[in-house]
Amino acid sequence: MDKFPLHRSDRYIRLEMVGQGSFGKITRAMDTVLDRCVVLKKQPMESEAAQRELMAYKVFAAHPSAHVLSLYDYFTEHKMGEGHRLVIVYELCDCSLHHIFKSPPCRGNGLAPPKFAAYIKGTCSGLAHLHGLGIVHGDFSLKNLLVKGTACVVADPGAAHSAQDFSLRPDEEVTTAYIRAPERLLGEARSSAAIDLWACGVVAWCMATGECAWYMNDGLDVLLAYNTLLGRASPGE
Ligand SMILES: Nc1ncnc2c1ncn2[C@@H]1O[C@H](COP(=O)(O)OP(=O)(O)OP(=O)(O)O)[C@@H](O)[C@H]1O
Ligand SMILES: [Mg+2]
Repeated sequence: MDKFPLHRSDRYIRLEMVGQGSFGKITRAMDTVLDRCVVLKKQPMESEAAQRELMAYKVFAAHPSAHVLSLYDYFTEHKMGEGHRLVIVYELCDCSLHHIFKSPPCRGNGLAPPKFAAYIKGTCSGLAHLHGLGIVHGDFSLKNLLVKGTACVVADPGAAHSAQDFSLRPDEEVTTAYIRAPERLLGEARSSAAIDLWACGVVAWCMATGECAWYMNDGLDVLLAYNTLLGRASPGE
């Protein structure tokens, strides 16, 4: 008998939730064909994030890296009331850097230097790989960096875009506020690899100190916090 089931989704037995995504739950599952645990991420088929994520992974398939989360498979599902959903199957990681940032011993103290160095090496190597391919990640936040043992990999390229000639109006901004670069907070529409470098610096700060005085959800609050910490900034500075 054919080892592959009729419906692709039958191959995966869904277990518990491991995270909450913008469009739904991220679920640990058992791959019954390869007998290994994986992660399923379900998103509306037509969402821009899903399309960007798949597009980026097509590039990573041609240019793989140990510092980028591995995509194993993808398929579509249709459920009454939910419409068509894209399900992407990823390698399972232990947790996100955000989880480590929020938990002892990192919380309030920062990581011990060897751990910090190992995670930041993975983070920077993953980012260098994307930038080398001409891709800006666009949302390089603690929740989008995943830990596997002592390694850290870059995940969730749902906001990824070209490093050349890409603009986004401030009202189209959907990315995480506390890692958003000051020029974007001040209304600069053009994007470049520089916005990821700022975010990478914020990630390093968070992991080195275990705190972040501008860890806020709203861009305006982050800007006000920068004004308090650094003095007033203006466009072009
Ligand atoms: N492969 C994985 N292994 C373990 N945990 C994961 C994995 N993928 C995602 N998660 C968990 O789920 C969370 C959300 O995942 P992800 O960022 O991909 O979803 P999202 O819908 O793009 O969310 P957001 O829009 O908030 O960034 C992660 O922060 C992490 O805690
Ligand atoms: Mg995410």
